[in-house]
Amino acid sequence: MAARRCIVLHPVIRGGGRTERNAAASLAEAIGLARAIELTVEHAEVVPLAQRRPGTLFGSGTVERLAKLIAGDTAADAEPAAAGSDEEEADAKPHRGRGRIRVTEKKAGIDVVIVDAALTPVQQRNLEGAWKCKVIDRTGLILEIFGARARTAEGSLQVELAALTYARSRLVRSWTHLERQRGGFGFVGGPGETQIEADRRLIDERIIRIKRQIAEVKRTRGLHRKARQRLSHPVVALVGYTNAGKSTLFNRLTRAETVARDQLFATLDPTMRGLDLPGGQTVILSDTVGFISNLPHELVAAFQATLEEVFEADVVVHVRDAAHPDSEAQRRDVLSVLNDLGFGDDIESQLIEVLNKADLLEDEAREMLEKRAMRNSDPPVILVSALTGDGIPRLLDLLAERLSGNWHTLAVSLSPGDGSTLAWLYRHGQVVERQDSDEEIRLKVRLDEKSAARFAERRDSNPRSA
Ligand code: GTP
Repeated sequence: MAARRCIVLHPVIRGGGRTERNAAASLAEAIGLARAIELTVEHAEVVPLAQRRPGTLFGSGTVERLAKLIAGDTAADAEPAAAGSDEEEADAKPHRGRGRIRVTEKKAGIDVVIVDAALTPVQQRNLEGAWKCKVIDRTGLILEIFGARARTAEGSLQVELAALTYARSRLVRSWTHLERQRGGFGFVGGPGETQIEADRRLIDERIIRIKRQIAEVKRTRGLHRKARQRLSHPVVALVGYTNAGKSTLFNRLTRAETVARDQLFATLDPTMRGLDLPGGQTVILSDTVGFISNLPHELVAAFQATLEEVFEADVVVHVRDAAHPDSEAQRRDVLSVLNDLGFGDDIESQLIEVLNKADLLEDEAREMLEKRAMRNSDPPVILVSALTGDGIPRLLDLLAERLSGNWHTLAVSLSPGDGSTLAWLYRHGQVVERQDSDEEIRLKVRLDEKSAARFAERRDSNPRSA
């Protein structure tokens, strides 16, 4: 299939208050998102708005200029006429040339315009009418990406549920069929524009079916998790903003062949692998989906389903792109999403912060961060390059240090008849030594902090059984 051609627009409301993010970097992120679903980006720009127009979001001058651009009128790519006849003039001016990618060839044949903002159904319909091509907003785009990337049954179902809920709320012309297309939902593609019988009842029935399936998959997943808990290996979860380098670090640490591509959201569902730490301890390393800012609320459950492992993690490694201009804002976003997902305010106490992509830093910036990393900060900060391997041994040591503190090795003696305590210990701990005799069973068991405390309680309340 030939790549679809698109235009990416990142609207910025003047005086809208979101000044901490660099408009050009946001535009670059939107371009990355478009490329992640294999769209060819023909043109991209930051579009300043004086205000949001209810009908079309953009002012009429901007809508017209872009219509010409989409139709292949190259003159439209030039600076718009300074003497705009109405109040649209302000909207039509490009953003001081910043964040604008010009193309020289004609742009005829644009399939999709991506508006990196939330569009109302009316705005979407009106823009499609004015520009004579498909228009999708940020939610539609992220749904496409999640749909293309979901790997586990639960991930796919949660994304489909989110897509149906989104479609139901608008029943837009882009939503032309209920069946998923290969690798997407049809917000971008989809056959014709005529069969707009998106029937709410059909959607509702499908939603009910999917919810049932999700409940079933969750149950099975719970069973798998229990089986894993029995192994009692501590879990280390990698989280971080999309494209921060989680998969690359995961591969570097486990030498596994998970997908690491310069594509946003290369990972949607958690990937887990065993990892041996310097002290010999085995941990389970879990890679998770990348975070983004302004996650559309319809997608929170889909996102959450992919993050279950993080809730059970003994250590959460926050991977950051230290070389990104919005690194700080990305950090705040990740922490605030973790908070929304139900982590308490003390989330930072569980974290190790990994400043990745050290190889891309200028010497001065690297030295500054290295100094910061050396201080005994809370959370601990460590500078690495997942690409070159720099700093990785220190990260492994830090993990080992963090985890060893939480484990207690107990010598336990049980009467041979005390099967229930024996079973309890196998379930909650790692039995590292066992000697059976007629009088007793002697064990050496490794228990984490919580289990060790529970075991002590159990003994106190029933000293004969334990
Ligand atoms: P999502 O799946 O979108 O969440 O991304 P991710 O965080 O898993 O990022 P991934 O590992 O896929 O890396 C994204 C891009 O950054 C890839 O092109 C990597 O090659 C690159 N990258 C990762 N780590 C480093 C690093 O230490 N240095 C440099 N220069 N590039 C890196």
